[in-house]
Order: sequence, then C-alpha cells, then structure tokens
Amino acid sequence: MKIFAYGIRDDEKPSLKDWESKNPDIEVEYTQDLLTPETAKLAKGADSAVVYQQLDYTRDTLAALAEVGVKNLCLRNVGTDNIDFDAAKEFGFNISNVPVYSPNAIAEHSMIQLSRLLRRTKPMDEKVARHDLRWAPTIGREMRMQTVGIIGTGHIGRVAINILKGFGAKVIAYDKYPNAELQKEGLYVDSLDELFAQADAISLYVPGVPENHHLINKDSIAKMKDGVVLVNVARGNLMDIDAVIDGLNSGKISDFAMDVYEKEVGLFNEDWEGKQFPDPKIADLIARDNVLVTPHIAFYTTKAVSEMVHQSFDAAVSFAKGETPAIAVKY
Ligand code: NAD
Ligand code: COI
Repeated sequence: MKIFAYGIRDDEKPSLKDWESKNPDIEVEYTQDLLTPETAKLAKGADSAVVYQQLDYTRDTLAALAEVGVKNLCLRNVGTDNIDFDAAKEFGFNISNVPVYSPNAIAEHSMIQLSRLLRRTKPMDEKVARHDLRWAPTIGREMRMQTVGIIGTGHIGRVAINILKGFGAKVIAYDKYPNAELQKEGLYVDSLDELFAQADAISLYVPGVPENHHLINKDSIAKMKDGVVLVNVARGNLMDIDAVIDGLNSGKISDFAMDVYEKEVGLFNEDWEGKQFPDPKIADLIARDNVLVTPHIAFYTTKAVSEMVHQSFDAAVSFAKGETPAIAVKY
C-alpha cells in the first residue's frame, strides 16, 4: 500500500517519521508542494492522498487526481469549506478530515487573545520596550466582569466556554444546533441578535460555509454593544473586514483579534519582512494598538500537528483497505 502526501512542512516530519515507524509496511512518499491540477500526477500509483492546504480543492484539481486513479483524499485539518463537494461526488472521492485534533489548541489561543485585548498587553509591551514603565494609560478590564458571547458551541466553542468559566466570565452562547449539556446549564440565548445585544465580547467558532459568509457585517455590528470586543479564530469569510475596520474607526468595536483573514491565502505563513504587503488592510490592522493579528496559528501546537498527521494517515490506510474510517466526511 502506498500513501502520497502533499504540503508536508518541516514541523510535520517528526510526526510523520513516528507514524512510519509504527506502520513499516506502508510506503509513504511526500512533497512540500500543494495539491494542484499540475502536481496531482505526483500521486500516481498511490492508494490515498493526504493533504493540507488553504488553496481550494477545485473541480480541476479533483479531476486531475481522479485521472491518476487516486480517489481517497485525507485532509490533515478540520475545515472542509475549500472542497468542491459536487465534483468530489461526481468523481467518487472518499474524503476524511481531522475534526478533533486538539480543540484546546484553538480555544486556548482565542481566549489568550481575548485576555490580552482586555488587559491591553500590546500597547503595554510596546511601552515597556520603549523603557516607559508608567502604568497609565494602559489600564485593563477583568474577564469576570464581561459577558462573553460564544457563537458556535461545537468542539472548539465548548472548550472556550470551559476556559471562560475558569476566568469567572458570564458566558452566553448561540448555536443553530444547541448542545444538550449546555442547554441544561441555560447558557443559550434564542437568537444571534440577542447575543449581539448582551455580549461585551464575542468570539466565533462556526465553519466558513457559504451560509455563514459575512455573518459579522455592518448590520450585525450595529446590533452589538458600544465598545464590543471581537475575536475571530474560525474563518476569515465570517467577517466583512471593511465593516470591522469601520467599527474600529468609530469606536463601536473597542478591540479585535483575528487569526484568520478572508484574503489570507498567499499572505499568511509567508515572510513579508522588508517587503510591502499586497493588501494594505492587513498593514493597517497590524499597526493598531487595539488589534491583534496572528497568521492562522491557533491550531499550531505540537499536540495538534502530531494528531493531524497520525489521524489523517490512519484514515488513508483505512480507505485504501476499503474500510470507512470514523473520521470520513459524510457528504
Ligand atoms: P464543530 O463542527 O465542532 O462546531 C461548529 C458549530 O457551529 C456546530 O455546533 C454548528 O451547529 C455551529 N454553527 C454552524 N453555523 C452556525 C451559525 N450560523 N450560527 C450558530 N451556530 C452555527 O467545529 P469546531 O471543531 O468547533 O471548529 C469550528 C471552526 O473553527 C472550524 O469550522 C474552522 O473553521 C475553525 N478552525 C480554525 C482553526 C485555526 O487554526 N484558526 C483550527 C481549526 C478549526
Ligand atoms: C483547520 O484545521 O481547519 C484549520 O483552520 C487549521 C489549518 C490552518 C491547519
């Protein structure tokens, strides 16, 4: 049996080596290149392809992979919003993702960013770096004084809620499909509008599927409290960034942390030092005292990377044996 993996990064290689040592009978080949219509032919002769990329898995890409006989596609990440599922169905692809590699990694990052915003660590760190050790004006706010609105109470949203409980914050939540346990706790509000009206801070944990496109926009921001704090570690397309920038300019939004950006492909995980960003909005956001930008690294921990590699390669073997792994995507 042979598995071909695309987009393998240096930080994934120790986990891959570990998986190979536990599966000595499986032949593994890989490339740093992403899966595209041009690179699909590299997988010829493999039983399954293992992939991670933010580039879309387009009809052309899937057709090229099917053309070389590879119809098992195993993603090393959660999000499946970049797959053309109509084409995948037409070509008969088996697809898996890794829905639970470490929700803690992402939830922790979002809550670290929320606490950094509330305690104004960015301007404080900058002041200290200038050797200005005065307290004012960087006075902070306490988590326990905040009502935090969680949109999406799946794997990651639920861990974020537990972290918030530890801080003593008041948590309210909204999900299209409420979780039975959380329902018993009475955390849910009945609508997004209710959450917008009550929350001092809002953090998103919903997928970037088309129906959630620009969930946060001019109208929804208008429904929020003045001085609301926003955190988005989920997907860039959940926010109309122009509306967020307007909100920051007017003071309607007091602080904002983003780990994801609608136009992040080709921007994030690249070294721009000494070069101009292709998108001036990102430079503007990074320059602000009350905005924290991270380049889609909420997931990026040793535990998460190890799980992503192990679970995706296990699924690739399972599909190749004609089995359906537990993490197969039902579509
Ligand atoms: P999940 O599927 O377990 O939970 C998503 C929840 O959102 C579900 O409960 C669903 O019912 C709810 N939902 C969907 N649309 C909604 C809407 N419009 N309003 C209210 N609720 C809605 O997913 P998860 O594992 O918690 O991950 C959430 C998202 O986090 C992923 O889809 C992905 O986009 C993002 N993510 C980001 C990173 C990162 O590194 N920044 C890493 C992994 C995942
Ligand atoms: C996901 O798993 O969907 C993510 O967003 C993390 C990815 C950048 C590896």
